[in-house]
Amino acid sequence: MSQKDVGNKIPIYKLKKTDEVMNYYDEWGEGNKYDRDMIDWNYTGPKETVEVLNKYQKKKNIKIYDAGCGTGLVGVELKKYGFKDFYGADLSQRLLDLVPNGLYKKLVKSDLNKPILEDENIYDVVMCVGTFTFGHVKPHALDEFLRITKKGGLICFTINEGIHEEYGFDLKIKELLESNKWKELEFFKSDYIASKDVNAWLGLYEVIK
Ligand SMILES: C[S@@+](CC[C@H](N)C(=O)[O-])C[C@H]1O[C@@H](n2cnc3c(N)ncnc32)[C@H](O)[C@@H]1O
Repeated sequence: MSQKDVGNKIPIYKLKKTDEVMNYYDEWGEGNKYDRDMIDWNYTGPKETVEVLNKYQKKKNIKIYDAGCGTGLVGVELKKYGFKDFYGADLSQRLLDLVPNGLYKKLVKSDLNKPILEDENIYDVVMCVGTFTFGHVKPHALDEFLRITKKGGLICFTINEGIHEEYGFDLKIKELLESNKWKELEFFKSDYIASKDVNAWLGLYEVIK
């Protein structure tokens, strides 16, 4: 699979280390350029994932963890559907500073390749949109998403099509299915950034534990 993703000045697939990724997004946030680019490119990741979530989750007073929330584009979509209780985590303080005031209950700067500083079984839903891509968050983060999600809860994510197999997301998803940690509700190729010919797998899984 070719290394397809788009980014600011240099392509995302060239990023390797966590510090490089952090600096990259801190710079992309300057002058709100990240959000402007997402509008210009018709980035549909947040809209598509929240639409799918809403199909399966009708209760609105539930607790949602947005892993790699960036400037809060997923939160904007969650709010449109009436969800209110959501929490964001991201590596880039600059992007977190751009999240509209009061949209999320709490925002935390954190590296999702490390253990998440949250208790187990406290979230009804984990969303992770645009954050499984080149040099970003690795498949083992899915174990942490499962840990913090309640039994019967949902985990909804995108995976850039270019890393799905290369980084072992395919094997991790299969391992979690075979060990009855979760059940697949949706898994399909989404538009994502179709205007740039970049697509992503969109998955929605129910947590069994
Ligand atoms: C393409 S953006 C997606 C942001 C947001 N979810 C959206 O859909 O607009 C990828 C995000 O992943 C974050 N990120 C990358 N590596 C990370 C890590 N190790 N831990 C936490 N966040 C990370 C970046 O800071 C950036 O906000």
